[in-house]
Amino acid sequence: MNAHIQSQISLKPYNTFGMDVTARWWLDIHDESGALVFIADNRHSNAPVLVMGGGSNILFTKDFEGIILKNNIKGREVVRQDETSVWLRLGGGENWHETVLYTIAQGWGGMENLSLIPGSVGAAPIQNIGAYGVELKDMFDSLEALNLATGATHVFSHAACQFGYRDSIFKREARDKYLITRVTLRLSRHPVLHTSYGDIQQELAQLGGEPDVRLVSEAVCRIRTRKLPDPAVTGNAGSFFKNPTLSAAQFATLKAVWPDIPAYPQPDGSVKVPAAWLIQASGWKGFRNGNYGVHTQQALVLVNYGGASGQDIFQLSEDIRQDVALKFGVHLEREVNIL
Ligand code: EPU
Repeated sequence: MNAHIQSQISLKPYNTFGMDVTARWWLDIHDESGALVFIADNRHSNAPVLVMGGGSNILFTKDFEGIILKNNIKGREVVRQDETSVWLRLGGGENWHETVLYTIAQGWGGMENLSLIPGSVGAAPIQNIGAYGVELKDMFDSLEALNLATGATHVFSHAACQFGYRDSIFKREARDKYLITRVTLRLSRHPVLHTSYGDIQQELAQLGGEPDVRLVSEAVCRIRTRKLPDPAVTGNAGSFFKNPTLSAAQFATLKAVWPDIPAYPQPDGSVKVPAAWLIQASGWKGFRNGNYGVHTQQALVLVNYGGASGQDIFQLSEDIRQDVALKFGVHLEREVNIL
């Protein structure tokens, strides 16, 4: 056990919004035994605990007066395969996009639509990351998670994770209770491509050639690069809000007033609408106040142009929510975690 707890660490390099705050304590965890260092050290028993991956879905509004467990658990192994599938067990601290590229190089299908999503493998199930018609749950097999109170490892099956849209049990009753050490994904050896969403087909046509997982990944990377700011250049955490789900009646009322409103009908009769459309129609797209604002290419993304505070960004999100609620009667829920 060579892990040790550090104190007063700057979080600036560890959150994609680039907020310059500090953590009271910090522990880098490279394997399961590293987490046991935390459990054995009762100095922190009453302090708040935060497990961090890539820091790409978090807005710090103040210093963190607790302990951060940084998941750096690495590893990639094929634990099973058959005629159709490969089961790939990954360390929770692996980088998501690097993992996608690795699977594409092997010719395995499943992850290509989720190319270029910032963050780590261990964080992906927490919010069931999704893009271009595919969600993590579509390739998820199971995960191993260490109970931070007892040190015991539990296996969570697909059903146990209770996945929903940008949601899982780890955002609800299991929140902050576990460190996700390993994630096993089931990938396809005979990939079926999902290209019907948005601009993918158009992008593929421009790229030319017979579509395969590599080309779909390339198309997704191009679309994302056009629409979403690179966190290495401009601080952001991707979509700041979730797309709201409306009842059929509520949607019909809105549609009567705003005939152009886009709609994604859900199997249960409800209708999901793009928050970006509501925000843009409320006049916020491209808004800028000094060093923070709303991205010019995607109204769902709030940006730190450099030196903004978490409070500035949080207040901006409140102002947007208020305007959208007043104009459309729709209450936007934040996707990003606020601390
Ligand atoms: N739209 C606007 N204005 C904008 C952007 C979009 O009106 O500035 C409207 C358009 O009608 C467009 C529709 O919104 O057709 C959907 O836009 P887009 O395809 O860009 O997707 P989104 O619904 O805004 C979601 C995810 C993204 C994911 C994309 C692509 C959520 C909260 N966001 O955004 O995920 O990349 O779909 O699948 O579900 C993230 O979670 O951080 C994220 C970036």
